[in-house]
Amino acid sequence: MDLLLDVNVVLDICAKRQPFYKAARDAIQLCTFHGGKLWLYVGSVQTLEYNLYKELKQRHEIQGVGLTNRDLYAKCLALLEAFAKDKHWLAALAMEGNVFSAGDPEDAQLVLALKRFGESKIKLLTRDEPLLKAHPDKTISPQEYIRQNIPGSDRFIDFIDLKTQQNNIRPQLEKNIHRVLHHGQYIMGPEVNQLEEKLATYTGSKHCITVASGTEALLISLMALGIKPGDEVITTPFTFIATAEVIVLLGAKPVFVDIEPDTCNIDASKIEAAITQKTKAIMPVSLYGQPADMDEINDIAKKHNLPVIEDAAQSFGATYKGRKSCNLSTIGCTSFFPSKPLGCYGDGGAIFTNDENIAQACREIRVHGQSKRYMHTRIGLGGRMDTLQCAIVLAKLERFDWEVEQRLAVGRRYNQLLDEAGISRVQQRPDRTSVFAQYTVFTPKREVLQAHLNQTGIPTAVHYPVPLNEQPAYKHLCCSDCTPVAQDIAGQVMSLPMGPDLNESSQNAIVETCLAEL
Ligand SMILES: Cc1ncc(COP(=O)(O)O)c(C=O)c1O
Repeated sequence: MDLLLDVNVVLDICAKRQPFYKAARDAIQLCTFHGGKLWLYVGSVQTLEYNLYKELKQRHEIQGVGLTNRDLYAKCLALLEAFAKDKHWLAALAMEGNVFSAGDPEDAQLVLALKRFGESKIKLLTRDEPLLKAHPDKTISPQEYIRQNIPGSDRFIDFIDLKTQQNNIRPQLEKNIHRVLHHGQYIMGPEVNQLEEKLATYTGSKHCITVASGTEALLISLMALGIKPGDEVITTPFTFIATAEVIVLLGAKPVFVDIEPDTCNIDASKIEAAITQKTKAIMPVSLYGQPADMDEINDIAKKHNLPVIEDAAQSFGATYKGRKSCNLSTIGCTSFFPSKPLGCYGDGGAIFTNDENIAQACREIRVHGQSKRYMHTRIGLGGRMDTLQCAIVLAKLERFDWEVEQRLAVGRRYNQLLDEAGISRVQQRPDRTSVFAQYTVFTPKREVLQAHLNQTGIPTAVHYPVPLNEQPAYKHLCCSDCTPVAQDIAGQVMSLPMGPDLNESSQNAIVETCLAEL
């Protein structure tokens, strides 16, 4: 649970007001200990500054220490600045402006601000008695907070920690979101182009076309390549359903080629045998964030004059022989689903290519096949990424290089810990990097291990329990039993908590807990 700090509590701490100082300080330390965030309301800045100065001045007059008013004021600001350093600023919204009919406008503002959060997500830490009485469900005193939150052994590790990331980029996120609210160009606003330029530069691709999701990126790419009913597209059965779904949606047939047992990526050595007269594209997936054998796949494709679409939904930021994922073949498609290595706060995706014609086709298809306003020269769809989501990705990009570095470090650390513990895991090839969208281990005791980890507050997931050619809706479209490695691996994979902000002690706890059950 987070705490919004009322002015009286902040003053208790900054001015070390007795007898309130210790309880206020202990309560906020406990909140941080339990993973909660401490918020300061932007609308309280003047009250804080005014009252702290008044308090210091009064004390100064009593004690008679030789400071000028100017020095005292500087001291007051320095105290507030130091206190606010590791707190989060809660923006004052327009709806919290006209509170003058309330008995205490400032309290009314805080209560309104609390309503933005879900039930039990936040409380106002205050020792204002009338406020505590009027809103017992939304407020708590420092003493009561301490009583309810004595440190225990409860631990909680996020499967993917998006909260810490948001804490670190919140001012930039708010700035970007507000800019969109003010200019009002919600569809194809300036942030769309800005993001496309930045992403193209990042990957080294000539063109980047943002779209409504990773699924839409794959669909639009296949449409741009002219995939039609009766065509075949070679892909992996060990991936998220969207990879095959888009092929089937266009009336084409997914042809599943088995995977490598150690990387779980498509086995390039088995692709050529699957090519027929009807094959129109090859679609490898950079699973768990690691590119497949793209050189080998591109060579086969070249020999048979086929385009290659990299499903890079999980691998934005990864590299292959020094080149960036998304720019490794004819087309690269990524997803900005919130939990992806570069995520937005909704749905989003992007297509990358160096081919001018394909780029033009994708741009037109994402706006209903329109070459100019109300001139529909091809069949398209409504597949744009909205401006707000682009603004969010722009904010996240500022921290992205650091996050990729962290992902590599966390991945290396897992590798080392698990190898030492003798726990089998997905392997990475030395000529490429993985951004570890998932960190995945192999275990024949998956159910037992998952239950044990869950009990100790460690969440896990399975990517993926059933190969696509065994899925009820797909079984009849393709061969089943023809990808034995995928079938075997699907029974063994289990993904562990992963992310750039996963700390060493959590990683140690995760591996130790695994080891205890294996
Ligand atoms: C490999 C793969 N392809 C495609 C997608 C689809 O992306 P989106 O959820 O953005 O539509 C995902 C998302 O989970 C994915 O993991």
